[in-house]
Amino acid sequence: MSENPGLIVRDLEIFSADGQTLVGPVSFDFNPGQRLGLIGESGSGKSLAALAIIGLLPDGLSSRGSIELGGRQLVGAPERIMNTVRGTDVAVVFQEPLTALDPLMRIGKQLAEPLRRRAAADGERLTRQQLRLLVRERLADVRLPDPDAIALAFPHQISGGQRQRAALAIALSGRPSLLIADEPTTALDVTVQSEILDLLDRLVDERGMSLLFISHDLAVVARIAPRVVVLQKGLVVEEGMLADVLANPRHAYTHELVDSARSLDNALDDALNGRDA
Ligand SMILES: Nc1ncnc2c1ncn2[C@@H]1O[C@H](COP(=O)(O)OP(=O)(O)O)[C@@H](O)[C@H]1O
Ligand SMILES: [Mg+2]
Repeated sequence: MSENPGLIVRDLEIFSADGQTLVGPVSFDFNPGQRLGLIGESGSGKSLAALAIIGLLPDGLSSRGSIELGGRQLVGAPERIMNTVRGTDVAVVFQEPLTALDPLMRIGKQLAEPLRRRAAADGERLTRQQLRLLVRERLADVRLPDPDAIALAFPHQISGGQRQRAALAIALSGRPSLLIADEPTTALDVTVQSEILDLLDRLVDERGMSLLFISHDLAVVARIAPRVVVLQKGLVVEEGMLADVLANPRHAYTHELVDSARSLDNALDDALNGRDA
């Protein structure tokens, strides 16, 4: 088994409680250390696919098919297994870091817990002092200024961009080999969005992680993933190298995405040049 397993999704289907097909069948895969962009409009099934991979589908929803991570089958895996897979093999950052963070707990404490668990899994027991140092290091890794102050802050006391950095630090605390980023910058303003994308880009590279990057925005995906899968209404309508998809979109829906990304690009250019978009 590979140290840094890729992901193989085959004929994944997700059903609602009343038996409607919400997603699928969809298939996609990528090798260890590779990046894949999952693109599609709101409601196309991107988040459900991500939740199926980490075994956290909403109550009542069910899945069928195959999700293999490092040779291990995750569809139907017992919760005991999924508990160890989450965090150590695969971790997620979501669009809104407030949903991932506990509003009543200081950032440092929220980061300390998974760090302690990871160490315990490696047979290490950390002293409080060691743990405090580790928390500070991990906050510095995600380029948070003044890690000591951030560690003592509650989520609502820091900015949206800082919260997303903290959520990323927590997601990375278990040293996952696969990171799923589900619209991680959608809630942020353009400048902060750009900084977070650069950070993600660098961290994924440095750590040799695989990345499944989810977005409705082709322009954002273009910055981070060379290969894409396009979802529409729960089905894959196109996949390939982004450059090819951009140059020659085969599906009408992909055309629309490409066109709207172009107009966004133009708008951004105009904004940066100080003209009205
Ligand atoms: N808990 C749920 N129960 C029933 N339907 C759901 C649930 N969550 C999502 N859906 C439906 O599944 C589809 C895909 O949703 P989602 O994966 O969240 O889309 P995306 O992330 O691409 O915006 C949508 O039609 C949505 O309404
Ligand atoms: Mg979503």
